[in-house]
Amino acid sequence: MMISVPDLLDTDTVARVRQIIDAAPWINGNATSGPQAALAKNNEQLAEGSPAAREAGTIILNALGNSPLFFAAALPLKVYPPLFNRYGEGQTFGTHVDNAVRIQRGSDFRLRSDLSVTVFLEDPDAYDGGVLVVEDYFGTQQVKLPAGHAVVYPSSSLHHVTPVTRGVRTASFFWLQSMVRDNDARRLLFGLDQSIQRLTGQLGGGDRSVIELTGTYHNLLRRWADA
Ligand code: NI
Repeated sequence: MMISVPDLLDTDTVARVRQIIDAAPWINGNATSGPQAALAKNNEQLAEGSPAAREAGTIILNALGNSPLFFAAALPLKVYPPLFNRYGEGQTFGTHVDNAVRIQRGSDFRLRSDLSVTVFLEDPDAYDGGVLVVEDYFGTQQVKLPAGHAVVYPSSSLHHVTPVTRGVRTASFFWLQSMVRDNDARRLLFGLDQSIQRLTGQLGGGDRSVIELTGTYHNLLRRWADA
């Protein structure tokens, strides 16, 4: 399941993130790759744990914490500190699967990557190519979103970024471990949550059926979640 989170960051916040990261030193993108991905990857990124990555990453984590849509879709248990990459002309990231387990260097923080997140940090008109292509369950999806929008997709999917042919594509990317490991269970919960939100809008939160459905949502979450 692929979920877009529109306007995760507003225009001012995108500008603030860009100011922080654009002024920082960038390194070869293979610093975080496994051996298979390293063969496919040609881009630049901010050094993991660098002051700029940490400062800009905190802004993104705060925005995630304020997004009910992100929470409902991802049901995050642990989120990897956001990383930042950019692709100039001719740069690309060929087809790969993300590593199943991410271990943060120099710490005991680790997670199982259930979901991958990209936060777009450049106006799509400012570059050509640089499309995120995800081969999921339901077919191949092509994603290129406005600056400040995010996309969440299964880390288990094959995916790639098409070559940039003009301009620079700048983004944040990271992984998360969901409280609900199974993609299908998580998708059911998300569908139920969205229906309950709509019904609450129509009938009010005090409606008996809304209360019962909300109970069902939480009882399913209780059954399936590691919290
Ligand atoms: Ni990837």
